[in-house]
Amino acid sequence: MPANLATIIYLAAAVLFMLSLGGLSRQETARRGTLCGIVGMVLALVTSIWSESVGLYGIVALAMVPSVLIGAGLAMRVQMTGMPQLVALLHSFVGAAAVLVGFASYLDPGPLEGAALLVHHIEVYIGVGIGAITFTGSIIACLKLHGSMSGKPLLIPGRHALNVLVLLTTIGLGIWMVTTHDHATGIVLLGIATVLTSLLGIHMVMAIGGADMPVVVSMLNSYSGWAAAAAGFMLGNDLLIITGALVGSSGAILSLIMCRGMNRSLANVILGGFGTDGGGGPAADMPEGEVQPMDAVDAATLMHNASSVVIVPGYGMAVAQAQHALAGVTQMLRDNNVTVRFAIHPVAGRLPGHMNVLLAEAGIPYDIVMEMDEINDDLPDTDVVLVIGANDIVNPSAEDDPNSPIAGMPVLQVWKSGTVVVMKRSMGTGYAGVGNPLFFKDNTRMLFGDAKASVDAIASAISAE
Ligand code: TAP
Repeated sequence: MPANLATIIYLAAAVLFMLSLGGLSRQETARRGTLCGIVGMVLALVTSIWSESVGLYGIVALAMVPSVLIGAGLAMRVQMTGMPQLVALLHSFVGAAAVLVGFASYLDPGPLEGAALLVHHIEVYIGVGIGAITFTGSIIACLKLHGSMSGKPLLIPGRHALNVLVLLTTIGLGIWMVTTHDHATGIVLLGIATVLTSLLGIHMVMAIGGADMPVVVSMLNSYSGWAAAAAGFMLGNDLLIITGALVGSSGAILSLIMCRGMNRSLANVILGGFGTDGGGGPAADMPEGEVQPMDAVDAATLMHNASSVVIVPGYGMAVAQAQHALAGVTQMLRDNNVTVRFAIHPVAGRLPGHMNVLLAEAGIPYDIVMEMDEINDDLPDTDVVLVIGANDIVNPSAEDDPNSPIAGMPVLQVWKSGTVVVMKRSMGTGYAGVGNPLFFKDNTRMLFGDAKASVDAIASAISAE
């Protein structure tokens, strides 16, 4: 393909990626955004493969065909609840690719000389470093999210000093590597730096507690973007640089939004081990007392007779796959002139936008789905709040108990409403492993059981009324 044509197609793909990001920012336009992304990626792939620098099509096919089959198979089989670990695994691939591209382009830098070669070596070193951190950090995040590794933070004494030492050593080795004229020494230094940054990636994510994992997932998303951009510099591929920068910056913005949602600082996230230093006092006690159980028929009557109902979905709704049944109950209540709205916490579920995706899939109208900040002030005037499979995001100890591991995290203040109905199977804790005093409040009723079965029972009871 002529170089000019390739540049024009790359430009078109870059525009499509930007339109894709724009589209994905709102539920109404998300489908269009996804389509733009797919078209852009197909254009980018075809143009890259059809370029003068690619000749061995047999090898390209050997690499692509099994990967496409494995990727499509995994994506079709994965449950929504398993998405975060799949996303983390995919980030690790980007990191690994950046490391491999870095080594390949150090071994064969092409016709570069002098200052251009020096700049190339700097690109290689930075790309390999970011790639290695992304690779190992994402693998650990994947294992933690999958439950194959404990979600507890690993806190080595003096870990911040250790991180800084590794970072400074890596920078020192980098200066040596980019200035040395001995290729053999250079490759050894690059190898040592890869090991060091790989260990840094492991250590950084190991030090992060379960409750703070959402921010880590979006941080690794950002890292994977910068790793891709670095690979783009090494390969001299403009589209990869643009795409990497888009992913890197959007991941960073998402991390900031998540940090705000959890009241964490981004600086602490980057340093690792955050969310575990604060407070200093003893861990919060498990709340004790009597809970007031309720059955589905009473819950149905309560909601049917209310004038306003707010539904707070959480991870348990995703596990139970209760969203379709919930859409049915929502419609029944609205038909009965009950004002029904949904309240979405920024870290509800297990991945950004988890609840929005499920509610959209079930056909819940977008205009009744509110963000936490939009609805929190309305909760005191709400008759009934139905908490379905949510726990940490409605935990009052985040506000009341400075020793709680989730102290300071903004939560949905459901306890301020008239009556709170909490649907869950047991008195078990949520992801953060923290007891929840909400269950013991005077205006809380517990509807025990699988969320889907409970919503079905409520639907039958409402239709019988
Ligand atoms: P959680 O606090 O994890 O609580 C979910 C609750 O659902 C559990 O207490 C569980 O109680 C209940 N549940 C599970 N299966 C159920 C079923 N089949 N039917 C009914 N209930 C069921 O969820 P949340 O309130 O959505 O909070 C999210 C948490 O995950 C936060 O701590 C957040 O930091 C973390 N996190 C979020 C993300 C992102 S990006 N959103 C990523 C990783 C981690 P029972 O076992 O008693 O039923």
